[in-house]
Amino acid sequence: MRATSQAQPNIALIKYWGKREARQNLPEVGSLSLTLDTLWTRMAVEFDERPGEDRLLVNGAPAASMLPRISACLDEIAGEGRAAAAVTSECNFPIAAGLASSAAAFAALVMAASKANGRSLEAATLARLAGRASGSAARSMYPGIVELEAGARDIALRTLAGPDDWPLSVTVAITATHAKAVSSGTAMTISKQTSPFYASWVARQGDDLAVARRAVLERDFAALAGVAEHNCLKMHSVMWTSRPAIVYWSAATIACMQTVRALQDDGVPVFFTIDAGPQLKAVSLPEAADTVADALRRTTGVVDVMCSPLGPGARLLGTA
Ligand code: DP6
Repeated sequence: MRATSQAQPNIALIKYWGKREARQNLPEVGSLSLTLDTLWTRMAVEFDERPGEDRLLVNGAPAASMLPRISACLDEIAGEGRAAAAVTSECNFPIAAGLASSAAAFAALVMAASKANGRSLEAATLARLAGRASGSAARSMYPGIVELEAGARDIALRTLAGPDDWPLSVTVAITATHAKAVSSGTAMTISKQTSPFYASWVARQGDDLAVARRAVLERDFAALAGVAEHNCLKMHSVMWTSRPAIVYWSAATIACMQTVRALQDDGVPVFFTIDAGPQLKAVSLPEAADTVADALRRTTGVVDVMCSPLGPGARLLGTA
């Protein structure tokens, strides 16, 4: 059976940075994110009759460098003695440049592969499987504003507000489309081992999550803005104080931050967040989205701007 599914990337406002346990890829901290709508990855998976080499096509081209992680994820789902799989992926945004492409990819992969393997699993189980492949991927299984709780044994997730409960807009300012030099996973390990700020980052995460959760439940945009910017800059402080230092920003990233500051000074309801790449994501109330997109488009170093409302969790598109 061939199964196809679609998942959207998610953007964390309270960040996942650091692993408690490497083998199951358990996060050391909880996180809170926004699942997007108009950016997507589609994955089609079909198992052969017998074991052999997996094949992967991404946007029509073979992608050998991504195959080991894909194959390991398929082993988790179908067992190590499984048949070989043909995996075909399509993605409508730049890959591995800090736009959460792995989150969308593994959420879609887990859903398509388990269906192609003859199983219909519930979202919580699919999220745990996706999280083992990439921590942030677990969140793309759920719609809207999502909280991931980092338990000692496993993760637990829930939607705090659906896409229509609190419509927010996300505007992504793309400043570079090449793949990042250091993967998030490798960078997290370096941070945990070397940053003098890492322990306090972990210790304070529960406080930031509580403030953000309450802000979401009370639809308090200013409170969410304050804690999200603080948490983002704290994560990047951990990265910058790692040895070797991990710096994902470029001059354009800072120019975009200044654009958001100027908009805030004019009373526009917007705030920024930045992940493991030079892109800036601006979160705003929907009525401000056009103003935010125009201002970011005019910012030096911005090559493209993509806008999205909040969207659904991963879903099955079909089987054949
Ligand atoms: C900065 O989920 O890519 O985007 O579990 O090693 O695959 P792995 O890491 P990944 O890390 C995402 C880091 C982040 C913050 C976030 O999304 O919460």
